[in-house]
Amino acid sequence: MSSPVTKTSSSDQFESFVVTAPAKLILFGEHSVVYGKTAIAASIGLRIKLELRPNVEEDRICIDFSDIGVQKSWTCKEVRHGVFLYKPQSDSAEDGQAFQKAILKFLQSEGNTSDKLQLRSLVCFFYLLGTISENAIPLKAKVESKIPIGAGLGSSAALSVCLATGLLRIAGKCEPDKKEVCRLAHLSERILHGPLASGLDNNVSTFGGVIAFCSGTLTSRGPLPKLKLLLVNSHVERTTKSLLEFVRSQRRDSPTVVDAIMAAMDAVSKSCLVILEEMRQSGISNNHHRQLGNLIDYNQSLLESLKVSHPSLQEIIEIARQHGLHGKLTGAGGGGFAVILVPPDVDGETVAEVRKRLDAANFSSWEIELDPEGVLVNKEETV
Ligand code: MEV
Repeated sequence: MSSPVTKTSSSDQFESFVVTAPAKLILFGEHSVVYGKTAIAASIGLRIKLELRPNVEEDRICIDFSDIGVQKSWTCKEVRHGVFLYKPQSDSAEDGQAFQKAILKFLQSEGNTSDKLQLRSLVCFFYLLGTISENAIPLKAKVESKIPIGAGLGSSAALSVCLATGLLRIAGKCEPDKKEVCRLAHLSERILHGPLASGLDNNVSTFGGVIAFCSGTLTSRGPLPKLKLLLVNSHVERTTKSLLEFVRSQRRDSPTVVDAIMAAMDAVSKSCLVILEEMRQSGISNNHHRQLGNLIDYNQSLLESLKVSHPSLQEIIEIARQHGLHGKLTGAGGGGFAVILVPPDVDGETVAEVRKRLDAANFSSWEIELDPEGVLVNKEETV
């Protein structure tokens, strides 16, 4: 148990504000990034929005995350006794796990929910609140997501980034340091996806832009090349945690084979970096797109060899291929989303035809743009 808990005070007042954070799209290197290889990812123009308002009069913490069916509230006294009494003394994994267990017990003792996604999101909220803040701050937190949830686009990372930013801002009464936001969001990601989560998703969502990520470090950033992409939802549900564990079990069984696959994925990502740099320097050409298309095919085949693709993803990629386009899964795989590259010389009719065929096969597609901005705080806007 930790330090004594104190009551709500007038310093718990703050001005309402909104935080938004973007979804991410992994171009190359999912899974291999967990084993220290390079991944290339970018933030995209779909965002999660968190509105935080003070709630001193009611002295309650209210969470409205309707997208996943969470609308709950607790008195600050309940949160003080159920969460803050168990605040971790250090950043150690053991203290973190004990805190996580205490939060879970608190949520379950209230008979709050047995839905895994709801429960994990609430654990993340209270974990971050308890880690960041000295006390149970009476507030209303409302979350709205334009990011499809649990589909490989980093919705959980974007939520963690919003929560870390918002709660740090309230606790510190100033704009938080993005590095600290990113570190805390990674802690939260590890609750959701297990200890293997590489930190790629929270880095993209915090800093935005196109990033290369390797061994926990964001190794390069640059202005965005104007890539046109089609994002396709397979509507097949999956969990990142179990896919990460599945790949780990393959690596345990056949380390040299799996490491060779990871090394090939690394080569794909590094070749992409070279092409992106050329695009920046000399402008985008069809040849660049031809090379990127080849890399997409290689990466997809390597992911298939790790058995993290899915028949629905193969079907999407085949439809693209029949129109001369290249696609791959994006994120952990097993379902979720595929991404298709649309080179500049491909006309609107071809894209429309591909989308029609995807639609007929019960997939949904979006033409998306990359978004250079990471997490943003807006003092005026409300959800
Ligand atoms: C999930 O968005 C990407 C993975 O590489 C997992 C991770 O990097 O934590 C599959």
